[in-house]
Amino acid sequence: MSAPPGPPAPVEADGLLQLLRRRRVCRRFSDQAVDERRLRMVLEAGCWASSASNNRIHRLLLVRDQRRIDLVRAMSPGMLGLPTALVVICTDLDAAARAQVRVDRDTTTWIDVGTAAMNMMVEAEALGLGTCPTTSFSRGGVRAALELPPSAVPEFILQIGWPAGTEPPAETAAPGPAGRRLRAFAYAERYGTPLA
Ligand SMILES: Cc1cc2nc3c(=O)[nH]c(=O)nc-3n(C[C@H](O)[C@H](O)[C@H](O)COP(=O)(O)O)c2cc1C
Repeated sequence: MSAPPGPPAPVEADGLLQLLRRRRVCRRFSDQAVDERRLRMVLEAGCWASSASNNRIHRLLLVRDQRRIDLVRAMSPGMLGLPTALVVICTDLDAAARAQVRVDRDTTTWIDVGTAAMNMMVEAEALGLGTCPTTSFSRGGVRAALELPPSAVPEFILQIGWPAGTEPPAETAAPGPAGRRLRAFAYAERYGTPLA
């Protein structure tokens, strides 16, 4: 019988701590688009975040269409940068009803937004990307800009892009098909449209 695996090597923990120390919000982005593979890695990190009672009542909407990003930006006084991608974390009221979560009372739903956001920011940092959280936006305006259904409440917007002044690495690797978790909890461009 083989021995059970040991704990992860301490060097990884040191590297992670260094990454957490150096991460700072980015409010100046280059206009170079972020490739699909890295965006999916960021999204997947969000999908693996801890969730109260494993209720998973949030969905992550990836927006890369510049016209839609501009519309969202017009509704978001807190969006100071010009990101090339957004991830909008939405509470899904249908999922909440299925899980019998009272979103008006249960504060853990907010904490779940934070766990997903932080996972994505850490993964983005590891990929050399810049991110900035955004909570200063008009919910109604963003809902209209992204044509969200009534069941989707936008809670948090993560701005993503290459930090201005950096030289993005050439990307050649195409992303593989989206895994089960990504397909279950993340949407591409339109709410309800799973990643391919
Ligand atoms: C919940 C939350 C909401 C935030 N909302 C905004 C925002 O609307 N606009 C913005 O530019 N920064 C926003 N920020 C970024 C903070 O201002 C920033 O994280 C803080 O100044 C600390 O900087 P650091 O993340 O680089 O350590 C937000 C951060 C958090 C955690």
